[in-house]
Amino acid sequence: MSALKLCVLSSEILPYAKTGGLADVAGALLQNLRRRGHEVHAFMPLYSVVRAAHPELQPVRGVQQVPLAIGSTEYFFSLQTTRFPGTDIAMYFIDCPALYDRADFYTSDPDEHRRFLLFSRAALESCRRLGLAPDIFHCNDWHTAFLPLYLKTLYSSDPVLAPARSVLTIHNIGYQGVMPGAAVADLGLGGAEARLDANDLAHGVINSLKTGIRFADRVTTVSPTYAREICQGPLGMGMQATLRARKDGVVGILNGVDYRDWDPRHDPHLTTHFGPQDLRGKQTNKQELISATHLDGAVSTPLMGMVTRLAEQKGIDLLFDALPSLLLERDFGLVVLGSGDPRYVTFFEGLAQRFPGRVAFRSGYDESLAHLIEAGSDIFLMPSRYEPCGLNQMYSLRYGTIPIVRNTGGLADSVQHFDPASGRGTGCVFNDYDAPAVRWAIGTVLDWYAVPKNWQRLMQNAMAQDFSWARQIVQYDSLYRELLGAPRLN
Ligand code: ADP
Ligand code: GLC
Repeated sequence: MSALKLCVLSSEILPYAKTGGLADVAGALLQNLRRRGHEVHAFMPLYSVVRAAHPELQPVRGVQQVPLAIGSTEYFFSLQTTRFPGTDIAMYFIDCPALYDRADFYTSDPDEHRRFLLFSRAALESCRRLGLAPDIFHCNDWHTAFLPLYLKTLYSSDPVLAPARSVLTIHNIGYQGVMPGAAVADLGLGGAEARLDANDLAHGVINSLKTGIRFADRVTTVSPTYAREICQGPLGMGMQATLRARKDGVVGILNGVDYRDWDPRHDPHLTTHFGPQDLRGKQTNKQELISATHLDGAVSTPLMGMVTRLAEQKGIDLLFDALPSLLLERDFGLVVLGSGDPRYVTFFEGLAQRFPGRVAFRSGYDESLAHLIEAGSDIFLMPSRYEPCGLNQMYSLRYGTIPIVRNTGGLADSVQHFDPASGRGTGCVFNDYDAPAVRWAIGTVLDWYAVPKNWQRLMQNAMAQDFSWARQIVQYDSLYRELLGAPRLN
C-alpha cells in the first residue's frame, strides 16, 4: 500500500515537552506512523525551555520572520527544524518568542487563545511556503482544533493545501479552549465568521474544540468507551449534541504503550530489571522505592502507588474520605507523585504528616520516580472521575502492579476485574464515583494480596497483557485511508 504524507500537530510531544499523556501519545504516534512507512512531519510550538534544551534546532530557509496578524497584533514567526531522535521524521517548531517565551507551556494569560491560533496558522503557512502538501493534517485537542476550519476557509483554494483532509483527536474533552466572543477578530477568518457556532457567539463565547468537532473530516478519541461516554452523557461536557450531529460519529481508538520505555525487563530508569519469568527484581525495586521515600512502615505490607496530575478529573476527591479511615483500619503503604491543584497537594501533605513512614507524597514532576513507583509498588490507584484513555494503568499491568480503576473511559477498556474463582482478570474495577466504592475496591485488592495464590495469578495475568502501539496504529492507518477515499465534508 502506498505511503501517505502526514502532518501531526500537538502542543506537546515527548521527548521535547510533556505535561501529561498527550506528549507520550503524540511522540509514539509519530514513530509508529513512520514505522508503517508513512512520510511524517510534526509541528509543535517552540517553548523557551525547548529552545534552551535543543541547541541542535536549525532555522528553515524561506520561513523566517514571517509576519502573521492575529487580530490587530502583528506577530513574526520563524520555523526551526530537526529530526525526531533516531528517525528521519521532520520535527518543525514554531518559533514566536512573543507568545512562547513563558514560564509554562500552558498559561492563563489573556492571550492564551492567540498562542494556539498562531500555532495552527503558522503550521499551515509553513506548509504552504515549503510546498509541503500533506494528505492528512492530524490535530490533537483544542490547541489545534481551529486548523480544520482554516483549511476549509482560508486555504480552500490554495493549490498546496486545498486537497488535504483533517483528523481531530480528542484526548480530553474537559479542555475546550473557550475564548471570549470579542476574540472573533483574532481568528482571521476573512469573512467566514458565519461558520462559527451562532448560539455560542450569542452567548459571547467561541469554543475551539467545538469548532474542530464541526469541521474536521474525522473525529477520533482515545478509547472506545470514552467515545460512547462523550456522545451520550454528561462526560461530553456540553459537546454531546455537536458530536452526535456528525453522521460519521466519533471513532474510539485505544492508545498504545511504548514498551521500549515502559517494560520492567529493560526500563532505562531502573537499576534492577524483572519480568514475568523472574519476579525477584520487583522486590528489589520495592525496597529501593521504600528507601527513596522513607516508607519504613511499608517494608512488610502491600504498597500502593499513584502518579498523576492533581486535577479534578483524577478522582482525588474520593480519597479525602476513603484514605484516612482505610489507613487506620488496614495495613498498607502509599506513595504518591503528582503536581497540580494546591487543594490536593495540601491533602496528600497532610496525609503524609499524619501517617509518617506509611504515606509519602512527592509534589512535582519526576520521570525517574514515576518509573520506580510503577516498578516498586504492588498496587496502582487510578480512581478517575473520567479518563479518556489513561496510560498509567496500562504501564502498571506490564510491571505486575495491580491497577485499581474506576469503570470509565480507557480504564474500562484496558483492565478486567479479577475473579478469584476462575482466575481471570487483571485488576480491580469499581463502578460508582463515591468514597464507599473506592473503599470497597482498595479493601478487595488488599484481601486478594493476602492470598499468595490469587496475587501470583493476578500478576501473571497483568504482565501478559499487550497494549503495544504496533496494534493500535493499524486503526489510524485504516481511518486515514478510508478518509482519503471518502468524499469531503463541507
Ligand atoms: P493525563 O494525560 O490525563 O495526565 P495519562 O495517564 O494519559 O493521564 O498520562 C499521564 C502521563 O504523565 C504518564 O506518562 C505519567 O507517568 C505521567 N505523569 C503524570 N504526572 C507525573 C508526575 N508528577 N511526574 C512524572 N510523570 C508524571
Ligand atoms: C489526556 C487524557 C488521558 C489520555 C491522554 C493521552 O490527557 O486525560 O486519559 O491518556 O490524554 O491520550
